Amino acid sequence: MTAPDPATLRLGVIGAGFMGRQHLDFIRAAAGVSLAAVADPAVPADGFECPAYESTERMLDAAQLDAVVIANPNALHVETAVRCLEAGVAVLLEKPVAVDYAQSLQLVEAVKRLDGRLLVGHHRRHHPAVARAHAAVHGGELGEVVAVSGLWSARKEDAYFTDIPWHSRPGAGVLLINVVHDLDLLRHLCGEVVEIQAIQSSHARGLDVEDTVTLNLRFHSGAVGSFLASDAGVSPWGWDQATEETSAFPFLPDGVAYRIVGTRAALSVPNLARYAYDPSVSPDWHSPLSRTYLPVVPRGSFAAQLEHFAEVARGRAAPLVSAEDASRTLALVEAAALAAPTHRTVDVARFRADVEAGRRP
Ligand SMILES: NC(=O)c1ccc[n+]([C@@H]2O[C@H](COP(=O)([O-])OP(=O)(O)OC[C@H]3O[C@@H](n4cnc5c(N)ncnc54)[C@H](O)[C@@H]3O)[C@@H](O)[C@H]2O)c1
Repeated sequence: MTAPDPATLRLGVIGAGFMGRQHLDFIRAAAGVSLAAVADPAVPADGFECPAYESTERMLDAAQLDAVVIANPNALHVETAVRCLEAGVAVLLEKPVAVDYAQSLQLVEAVKRLDGRLLVGHHRRHHPAVARAHAAVHGGELGEVVAVSGLWSARKEDAYFTDIPWHSRPGAGVLLINVVHDLDLLRHLCGEVVEIQAIQSSHARGLDVEDTVTLNLRFHSGAVGSFLASDAGVSPWGWDQATEETSAFPFLPDGVAYRIVGTRAALSVPNLARYAYDPSVSPDWHSPLSRTYLPVVPRGSFAAQLEHFAEVARGRAAPLVSAEDASRTLALVEAAALAAPTHRTVDVARFRADVEAGRRP
Protein backbone atom coordinates (compact mmCIF):
# COMPACT_ATOMS: atom_id res chain seq x y z
CA MET A 1 0.00 0.00 0.00
CA THR A 2 1.38 3.43 -0.92
CA ALA A 3 2.01 5.61 2.08
CA PRO A 4 1.08 9.30 2.00
CA ASP A 5 3.78 11.89 2.48
CA PRO A 6 1.97 15.19 2.95
CA ALA A 7 3.66 17.79 5.12
CA THR A 8 0.79 17.53 7.57
CA LEU A 9 -0.97 14.20 8.11
CA ARG A 10 -4.74 14.35 8.61
CA LEU A 11 -5.55 12.29 11.72
CA GLY A 12 -8.86 10.99 13.04
CA VAL A 13 -9.47 9.80 16.57
CA ILE A 14 -11.88 6.90 17.11
CA GLY A 15 -13.27 6.83 20.64
CA ALA A 16 -13.13 10.15 22.49
CA GLY A 17 -13.25 8.85 26.05
CA PHE A 18 -10.57 9.06 28.74
CA MET A 19 -7.71 7.94 26.51
CA GLY A 20 -9.01 9.31 23.23
CA ARG A 21 -9.17 12.81 24.70
CA GLN A 22 -5.55 12.52 25.75
CA HIS A 23 -4.68 11.56 22.18
CA LEU A 24 -6.58 14.65 20.99
CA ASP A 25 -4.29 16.77 23.19
CA PHE A 26 -1.15 15.00 21.96
CA ILE A 27 -2.20 15.55 18.34
CA ARG A 28 -2.97 19.23 18.96
CA ALA A 29 0.49 19.67 20.49
CA ALA A 30 2.43 17.80 17.78
CA ALA A 31 4.05 19.08 14.61
CA GLY A 32 3.37 17.44 11.26
CA VAL A 33 -0.10 16.14 12.14
CA SER A 34 -3.51 17.79 12.34
CA LEU A 35 -6.74 16.76 14.02
CA ALA A 36 -9.17 16.28 11.14
CA ALA A 37 -12.06 14.28 12.66
CA VAL A 38 -13.42 12.39 15.65
CA ALA A 39 -15.66 9.30 15.59
CA ASP A 40 -17.62 8.36 18.69
CA PRO A 41 -21.35 7.56 18.96
CA ALA A 42 -21.51 9.27 22.37
CA VAL A 43 -20.17 12.74 21.55
CA PRO A 44 -21.99 15.78 20.07
CA ALA A 45 -21.23 16.59 16.42
CA ASP A 46 -20.08 20.08 17.39
CA GLY A 47 -18.14 19.11 20.50
CA PHE A 48 -14.68 19.53 18.95
CA GLU A 49 -12.83 21.95 16.73
CA CYS A 50 -13.14 19.39 13.93
CA PRO A 51 -16.09 17.39 12.53
CA ALA A 52 -17.32 14.59 14.80
CA TYR A 53 -19.07 11.50 13.37
CA GLU A 54 -21.20 8.90 15.08
CA SER A 55 -19.36 6.01 13.45
CA THR A 56 -15.97 5.04 12.07
CA GLU A 57 -17.55 4.26 8.68
CA ARG A 58 -19.04 7.73 8.29
CA MET A 59 -15.76 9.33 9.31
CA LEU A 60 -13.72 7.22 6.88
CA ASP A 61 -16.17 8.05 4.07
CA ALA A 62 -16.20 11.78 4.74
CA ALA A 63 -12.96 12.96 6.28
CA GLN A 64 -10.16 12.03 3.82
CA LEU A 65 -7.82 10.83 6.52
CA ASP A 66 -4.21 9.71 6.31
CA ALA A 67 -4.22 7.98 9.68
CA VAL A 68 -6.33 7.23 12.74
CA VAL A 69 -5.80 6.71 16.46
CA ILE A 70 -8.15 4.03 17.80
CA ALA A 71 -9.08 4.40 21.47
CA ASN A 72 -12.47 2.70 21.62
CA PRO A 73 -13.37 -0.22 23.94
CA ASN A 74 -11.06 -3.23 23.69
CA ALA A 75 -13.68 -5.51 22.16
CA LEU A 76 -13.91 -3.23 19.10
CA HIS A 77 -10.17 -2.88 18.48
CA VAL A 78 -9.65 -5.57 15.84
CA GLU A 79 -12.77 -4.94 13.75
CA THR A 80 -12.14 -1.18 13.82
CA ALA A 81 -8.46 -1.51 12.93
CA VAL A 82 -9.16 -3.92 10.06
CA ARG A 83 -11.85 -1.56 8.72
CA CYS A 84 -9.37 1.34 8.77
CA LEU A 85 -6.57 -0.69 7.18
CA GLU A 86 -9.00 -1.73 4.43
CA ALA A 87 -9.70 1.96 3.85
CA GLY A 88 -5.97 2.49 3.36
CA VAL A 89 -5.30 4.63 6.44
CA ALA A 90 -2.49 4.04 8.91
CA VAL A 91 -3.51 2.95 12.41
CA LEU A 92 -2.25 3.69 15.91
CA LEU A 93 -4.22 1.14 17.92
CA GLU A 94 -4.49 1.48 21.67
CA LYS A 95 -3.48 -1.49 23.75
CA PRO A 96 -4.49 -4.22 24.26
CA VAL A 97 -4.24 -5.11 20.58
CA ALA A 98 -7.33 -7.36 20.94
CA VAL A 99 -9.32 -9.05 23.69
CA ASP A 100 -7.51 -12.35 23.28
CA TYR A 101 -4.67 -13.95 21.36
CA ALA A 102 -6.97 -15.73 18.87
CA GLN A 103 -8.58 -12.43 17.93
CA SER A 104 -5.21 -10.68 17.67
CA LEU A 105 -4.15 -13.24 15.05
CA GLN A 106 -6.94 -11.92 12.78
CA LEU A 107 -5.32 -8.51 12.94
CA VAL A 108 -1.83 -9.91 12.33
CA GLU A 109 -3.21 -11.64 9.24
CA ALA A 110 -5.00 -8.47 8.05
CA VAL A 111 -1.85 -6.35 8.43
CA LYS A 112 0.06 -8.85 6.27
CA ARG A 113 -2.72 -9.24 3.70
CA LEU A 114 -3.29 -5.51 3.32
CA ASP A 115 0.36 -4.50 3.74
CA GLY A 116 -1.03 -2.22 6.44
CA ARG A 117 0.80 0.39 8.47
CA LEU A 118 -0.14 -0.27 12.10
CA LEU A 119 1.49 0.64 15.40
CA VAL A 120 0.16 -0.70 18.72
CA GLY A 121 0.01 1.87 21.53
CA HIS A 122 2.34 0.33 24.07
CA HIS A 123 3.53 3.88 24.62
CA ARG A 124 6.04 3.07 27.36
CA ARG A 125 8.33 1.51 24.76
CA HIS A 126 8.90 5.05 23.49
CA HIS A 127 10.15 6.34 26.86
CA PRO A 128 13.87 7.25 26.76
CA ALA A 129 14.53 5.29 29.98
CA VAL A 130 13.30 2.13 28.27
CA ALA A 131 15.69 2.55 25.36
CA ARG A 132 18.56 3.11 27.83
CA ALA A 133 17.56 0.15 30.01
CA HIS A 134 17.28 -2.03 26.90
CA ALA A 135 20.79 -0.98 25.86
CA ALA A 136 22.12 -1.74 29.36
CA VAL A 137 20.55 -5.20 29.47
CA HIS A 138 21.37 -6.20 25.91
CA GLY A 139 24.80 -4.56 25.91
CA GLY A 140 25.87 -6.66 28.90
CA GLU A 141 26.23 -3.70 31.31
CA LEU A 142 24.51 -5.73 34.04
CA GLY A 143 26.33 -8.98 33.26
CA GLU A 144 23.87 -11.83 32.83
CA VAL A 145 20.34 -10.97 33.98
CA VAL A 146 19.31 -13.48 36.64
CA ALA A 147 16.09 -11.94 37.95
CA VAL A 148 13.59 -9.11 37.59
CA SER A 149 10.81 -7.89 39.85
CA GLY A 150 8.09 -5.34 39.24
CA LEU A 151 5.11 -3.71 40.89
CA TRP A 152 2.19 -1.58 39.75
CA SER A 153 -0.51 -0.53 42.17
CA ALA A 154 -2.91 2.42 42.23
CA ARG A 155 -6.46 2.77 43.55
CA LYS A 156 -8.92 3.41 40.73
CA GLU A 157 -11.98 5.48 41.68
CA ASP A 158 -15.21 3.48 42.17
CA ALA A 159 -16.85 5.43 39.31
CA TYR A 160 -14.32 3.89 36.91
CA PHE A 161 -16.31 0.68 37.32
CA THR A 162 -19.85 1.96 38.00
CA ASP A 163 -19.98 4.66 35.29
CA ILE A 164 -18.28 2.67 32.51
CA PRO A 165 -19.85 -0.81 32.49
CA TRP A 166 -17.26 -2.51 30.25
CA HIS A 167 -14.61 -1.78 32.88
CA SER A 168 -16.13 -4.32 35.28
CA ARG A 169 -16.65 -7.07 32.75
CA PRO A 170 -14.17 -9.86 32.04
CA GLY A 171 -11.39 -8.62 29.79
CA ALA A 172 -11.07 -5.23 31.48
CA GLY A 173 -9.42 -6.16 34.77
CA VAL A 174 -6.03 -5.01 35.99
CA LEU A 175 -4.32 -7.72 33.92
CA LEU A 176 -5.56 -6.59 30.53
CA ILE A 177 -5.83 -2.86 31.27
CA ASN A 178 -2.62 -2.28 33.23
CA VAL A 179 -0.35 -5.33 33.54
CA VAL A 180 -0.38 -5.71 29.76
CA HIS A 181 1.94 -2.65 29.67
CA ASP A 182 4.30 -4.14 32.23
CA LEU A 183 4.46 -7.56 30.59
CA ASP A 184 5.11 -5.84 27.29
CA LEU A 185 8.06 -3.96 28.80
CA LEU A 186 9.39 -7.01 30.63
CA ARG A 187 9.34 -8.92 27.31
CA HIS A 188 11.04 -6.00 25.60
CA LEU A 189 13.73 -5.65 28.27
CA CYS A 190 14.33 -9.27 29.33
CA GLY A 191 13.18 -11.34 26.34
CA GLU A 192 10.37 -13.83 25.85
CA VAL A 193 8.66 -15.46 28.82
CA VAL A 194 8.47 -19.24 28.49
CA GLU A 195 6.52 -20.14 31.66
CA ILE A 196 4.05 -18.24 33.79
CA GLN A 197 2.25 -18.87 37.10
CA ALA A 198 -0.39 -16.61 38.60
CA ILE A 199 -2.56 -16.01 41.63
CA GLN A 200 -5.38 -13.49 41.21
CA SER A 201 -8.06 -12.01 43.43
CA SER A 202 -11.32 -10.09 43.06
CA HIS A 203 -11.63 -9.78 46.82
CA ALA A 204 -11.08 -6.03 47.17
CA ARG A 205 -13.85 -4.91 44.81
CA GLY A 206 -16.02 -8.02 44.52
CA LEU A 207 -16.43 -7.59 40.74
CA ASP A 208 -16.26 -10.22 38.00
CA VAL A 209 -12.87 -8.89 36.96
CA GLU A 210 -9.67 -9.40 38.92
CA ASP A 211 -8.41 -6.40 40.91
CA THR A 212 -5.16 -7.87 42.23
CA VAL A 213 -2.73 -10.34 40.73
CA THR A 214 0.74 -11.75 41.32
CA LEU A 215 2.76 -13.46 38.59
CA ASN A 216 5.86 -15.67 38.45
CA LEU A 217 7.79 -15.68 35.19
CA ARG A 218 10.54 -17.79 33.66
CA PHE A 219 12.32 -16.11 30.74
CA HIS A 220 13.86 -17.87 27.75
CA SER A 221 17.24 -16.48 28.85
CA GLY A 222 17.02 -18.49 32.08
CA ALA A 223 16.20 -15.45 34.24
CA VAL A 224 13.18 -15.60 36.54
CA GLY A 225 10.86 -12.78 37.52
CA SER A 226 7.84 -11.73 39.54
CA PHE A 227 5.23 -9.03 39.06
CA LEU A 228 2.58 -7.80 41.49
CA ALA A 229 -0.32 -5.55 40.49
CA SER A 230 -3.51 -4.14 41.99
CA ASP A 231 -6.01 -1.48 40.93
CA ALA A 232 -7.59 -1.49 44.39
CA GLY A 233 -4.65 -0.45 46.54
CA VAL A 234 -2.99 2.90 47.19
CA SER A 235 0.68 2.95 46.30
CA PRO A 236 3.46 5.15 44.95
CA TRP A 237 4.90 2.16 43.09
CA GLY A 238 4.42 1.68 39.39
CA TRP A 239 5.46 3.00 36.00
CA ASP A 240 2.70 5.61 35.92
CA GLN A 241 3.74 7.21 39.20
CA ALA A 242 7.44 7.01 38.31
CA THR A 243 7.12 8.94 35.05
CA GLU A 244 5.47 12.16 33.97
CA GLU A 245 3.83 10.53 30.97
CA THR A 246 0.34 11.79 31.72
CA SER A 247 -1.13 14.27 34.14
CA ALA A 248 -3.63 11.56 35.08
CA PHE A 249 -1.17 10.19 37.67
CA PRO A 250 0.74 11.84 40.50
CA PHE A 251 4.47 11.95 39.77
CA LEU A 252 6.97 10.78 42.36
CA PRO A 253 10.55 11.52 41.29
CA ASP A 254 13.13 8.73 41.50
CA GLY A 255 10.34 6.14 41.38
CA VAL A 256 10.86 2.50 40.51
CA ALA A 257 8.64 0.14 38.51
CA TYR A 258 11.13 -2.67 37.81
CA ARG A 259 14.31 -3.96 39.42
CA ILE A 260 16.59 -5.88 37.07
CA VAL A 261 19.23 -7.99 38.78
CA GLY A 262 22.36 -9.00 36.86
CA THR A 263 25.55 -10.84 37.78
CA ARG A 264 27.59 -7.61 37.51
CA ALA A 265 25.11 -4.87 38.33
CA ALA A 266 21.48 -4.10 39.13
CA LEU A 267 19.30 -1.52 37.43
CA SER A 268 16.04 0.02 38.59
CA VAL A 269 13.68 1.38 35.92
CA PRO A 270 12.61 4.04 34.99
CA ASN A 271 14.86 6.05 37.37
CA LEU A 272 17.85 4.21 35.85
CA ALA A 273 19.78 3.82 39.11
CA ARG A 274 22.60 1.34 38.49
CA TYR A 275 24.10 -0.47 41.47
CA ALA A 276 27.44 -2.32 41.40
CA TYR A 277 29.98 -3.57 43.89
CA ASP A 278 33.28 -1.76 44.16
CA PRO A 279 35.52 -3.81 41.84
CA SER A 280 38.68 -2.50 43.57
CA VAL A 281 37.62 -4.42 46.69
CA SER A 282 35.86 -7.58 45.50
CA PRO A 283 32.79 -7.85 43.30
CA ASP A 284 30.65 -9.73 45.79
CA TRP A 285 27.98 -9.18 48.45
CA HIS A 286 30.31 -7.97 51.25
CA SER A 287 31.82 -5.18 49.12
CA PRO A 288 30.64 -1.56 49.09
CA LEU A 289 27.89 -0.79 46.57
CA SER A 290 27.92 2.27 44.36
CA ARG A 291 24.85 3.88 42.83
CA THR A 292 25.08 5.85 39.60
CA TYR A 293 22.23 7.18 37.48
CA LEU A 294 22.40 6.43 33.77
CA PRO A 295 21.80 9.66 31.85
CA VAL A 296 18.97 10.12 29.34
CA VAL A 297 17.44 13.09 27.59
CA PRO A 298 13.87 13.44 28.94
CA ARG A 299 11.05 12.97 26.43
CA GLY A 300 7.35 12.21 26.87
CA SER A 301 6.43 8.72 25.66
CA PHE A 302 3.17 9.78 24.04
CA ALA A 303 4.79 12.62 22.09
CA ALA A 304 7.57 10.25 20.97
CA GLN A 305 4.98 7.59 20.08
CA LEU A 306 3.00 10.03 17.94
CA GLU A 307 6.15 11.24 16.18
CA HIS A 308 7.10 7.63 15.46
CA PHE A 309 3.54 6.88 14.29
CA ALA A 310 3.74 9.73 11.78
CA GLU A 311 6.91 8.11 10.40
CA VAL A 312 5.14 4.73 10.24
CA ALA A 313 2.16 6.37 8.50
CA ARG A 314 4.49 7.97 5.96
CA GLY A 315 6.04 4.57 5.29
CA ARG A 316 9.44 5.71 6.55
CA ALA A 317 9.67 3.51 9.66
CA ALA A 318 8.68 0.01 10.68
CA PRO A 319 6.46 0.04 13.78
CA LEU A 320 8.36 -0.24 17.05
CA VAL A 321 5.42 -2.33 18.33
CA SER A 322 3.83 -4.36 15.53
CA ALA A 323 0.54 -6.26 15.74
CA GLU A 324 2.52 -9.49 15.92
CA ASP A 325 4.74 -8.23 18.74
CA ALA A 326 1.74 -6.94 20.71
CA SER A 327 -0.11 -10.20 20.11
CA ARG A 328 2.71 -12.02 21.94
CA THR A 329 2.28 -9.70 24.90
CA LEU A 330 -1.44 -10.39 24.79
CA ALA A 331 -0.82 -14.15 24.69
CA LEU A 332 1.25 -13.73 27.84
CA VAL A 333 -1.57 -11.87 29.59
CA GLU A 334 -3.99 -14.58 28.54
CA ALA A 335 -1.62 -17.29 29.70
CA ALA A 336 -1.55 -15.53 33.09
CA ALA A 337 -5.35 -15.42 33.13
CA LEU A 338 -5.38 -19.17 32.40
CA ALA A 339 -2.73 -19.94 35.00
CA ALA A 340 -4.54 -18.17 37.86
CA PRO A 341 -7.79 -20.16 38.21
CA THR A 342 -6.23 -23.48 37.17
CA HIS A 343 -3.16 -23.13 39.45
CA ARG A 344 -1.13 -24.38 36.48
CA THR A 345 2.29 -23.40 35.25
CA VAL A 346 1.47 -22.39 31.69
CA ASP A 347 4.01 -23.09 28.94
CA VAL A 348 3.60 -19.91 26.90
CA ALA A 349 4.83 -21.28 23.54
CA ARG A 350 2.49 -24.27 23.87
CA PHE A 351 -0.36 -21.93 24.79
CA ARG A 352 0.24 -19.92 21.62
CA ALA A 353 0.56 -23.06 19.48
CA ASP A 354 -2.73 -24.43 20.86
CA VAL A 355 -4.57 -21.20 20.07
CA GLU A 356 -2.99 -20.97 16.61
CA ALA A 357 -4.12 -24.56 15.91
CA GLY A 358 -7.63 -23.83 17.16
CA ARG A 359 -7.19 -26.11 20.20
CA ARG A 360 -8.44 -25.18 23.63
CA PRO A 361 -5.28 -24.45 25.72
N1 LIG B 1 -2.16 3.58 26.72
C1 LIG B 1 -2.71 3.77 27.91
O1 LIG B 1 -2.04 4.02 28.89
C2 LIG B 1 -4.18 3.63 28.06
C3 LIG B 1 -4.82 4.18 29.18
C4 LIG B 1 -6.21 4.04 29.28
C5 LIG B 1 -6.92 3.39 28.30
N2 LIG B 1 -6.25 2.84 27.24
C6 LIG B 1 -6.99 2.13 26.21
O2 LIG B 1 -7.78 3.07 25.49
C7 LIG B 1 -9.00 2.46 25.09
C8 LIG B 1 -10.15 3.31 25.60
O3 LIG B 1 -10.12 3.30 26.99
P1 LIG B 1 -10.81 4.48 27.84
O4 LIG B 1 -10.40 4.29 29.24
O5 LIG B 1 -10.58 5.78 27.15
O6 LIG B 1 -12.34 4.08 27.69
P2 LIG B 1 -13.61 5.06 27.65
O7 LIG B 1 -14.78 4.19 27.92
O8 LIG B 1 -13.37 6.27 28.50
O9 LIG B 1 -13.64 5.58 26.13
C9 LIG B 1 -14.05 4.78 25.07
C10 LIG B 1 -14.78 5.67 24.09
O10 LIG B 1 -15.07 4.88 22.94
C11 LIG B 1 -16.36 5.27 22.50
N3 LIG B 1 -16.95 4.24 21.65
C12 LIG B 1 -17.73 3.18 21.98
N4 LIG B 1 -18.10 2.50 20.88
C13 LIG B 1 -17.52 3.15 19.84
C14 LIG B 1 -17.55 2.93 18.44
N5 LIG B 1 -18.22 1.90 17.90
N6 LIG B 1 -16.85 3.80 17.65
C15 LIG B 1 -16.17 4.83 18.17
N7 LIG B 1 -16.13 5.09 19.49
C16 LIG B 1 -16.79 4.26 20.31
C17 LIG B 1 -17.15 5.51 23.78
O11 LIG B 1 -18.31 6.30 23.55
C18 LIG B 1 -16.10 6.21 24.63
O12 LIG B 1 -16.15 7.61 24.46
C19 LIG B 1 -8.99 1.04 25.67
O13 LIG B 1 -8.57 0.16 24.67
C20 LIG B 1 -7.97 1.11 26.77
O14 LIG B 1 -7.34 -0.13 27.00
C21 LIG B 1 -4.92 2.99 27.10
